[in-house]
Amino acid sequence: MSADRMRPINGKSAAKRILWGPPQNHISWAYMKELRENHPCTVYEEDPYIEVYQFRDNLYGLFHQNCDGMGDVWMWLTVGPEKCLLVDNGYGLGDLKALVDRITGGKEIIPVVTHDHFDHAFGSCRFGRVFCHEKLVPQIQAQNEHMWDYLFDDNGNNIWLQFDRKDLPEFKPFDIIGVPDGYTWDLGGGYEIELINSNGHGGPGAAMYLDKHSKILFSGDNICSDVSGCGTVSYPLEQCSLWAYRECVKRLIARIDEIDWLFPEHFIVNLESCLLYDILEALDTVLADPKNNYDYMENRQSGNGGPPRVTYYKYIKGFSTMSYGITDGPEPPVMISATRHLKK
Ligand SMILES: [Fe+2]
Repeated sequence: MSADRMRPINGKSAAKRILWGPPQNHISWAYMKELRENHPCTVYEEDPYIEVYQFRDNLYGLFHQNCDGMGDVWMWLTVGPEKCLLVDNGYGLGDLKALVDRITGGKEIIPVVTHDHFDHAFGSCRFGRVFCHEKLVPQIQAQNEHMWDYLFDDNGNNIWLQFDRKDLPEFKPFDIIGVPDGYTWDLGGGYEIELINSNGHGGPGAAMYLDKHSKILFSGDNICSDVSGCGTVSYPLEQCSLWAYRECVKRLIARIDEIDWLFPEHFIVNLESCLLYDILEALDTVLADPKNNYDYMENRQSGNGGPPRVTYYKYIKGFSTMSYGITDGPEPPVMISATRHLKK
């Protein structure tokens, strides 16, 4: 065990960790170890890679290990009176649709995604369709049969996570249905879930989903107890992605009576919505003077495979950190087809 690596967590999933990427947040790590080793969950035969944790009468956290070396991932299944809605679909490892059918008794599934990243949207083809914010459609369209290749070395061996390659989906085209900000689904009997365009992590098409019945916000990767990478700073500030995300947080706070709980896609969940005020405070401080109002910085490999560049970190009071870069101009979305071999 080297000093900068975490010990394995002995969860019930059939997949086993081989290799981690960057070290993860200590608090988040302890939380996940306690949750996965000591709290009840169910692994169904339909998908042995998913640990199912029940958080509410009708809310299931489908936990799966990240197939690459980054943080493990939650998907959120809300079961309404007539339909169910699944937020994110992971890598698609295992028969995720059969698992959802098992839990819901076969109710119609509305699959939605928070953003296009590997660990959130690669399972979309298992459902034949996916809903997302309308600006995310081009990134989802870039998915292809080779997008899982980077998980294996030149000899075909798993690099980060041990699982049976045959349990990945066979890629086939699926319907990608872009919807506007504020679009609402009715799961039956007036049980509504609303898409909220968030910007930030995942770019202009990133989305959160608000369960208006249970006052739960599925917040994607913009809120994370490890590091929240919420976009970059560029100038003019009012056009940069971190600013756009700040506008979203302000809108959420204006609707705070509708939001009691936050359920992110990684690590600690069931957070109280008052965290949004602390996030806004951190964003306001950063945006007041991005080049100086950070707490620490480091040189990191950029996400697009370019040279290392400076990443700045700002503490969110009582929670974790948000990271940001400072760039010359707004960054275009990174398409899957351009990134699939970068993590080797
Ligand atoms: Fe993620």
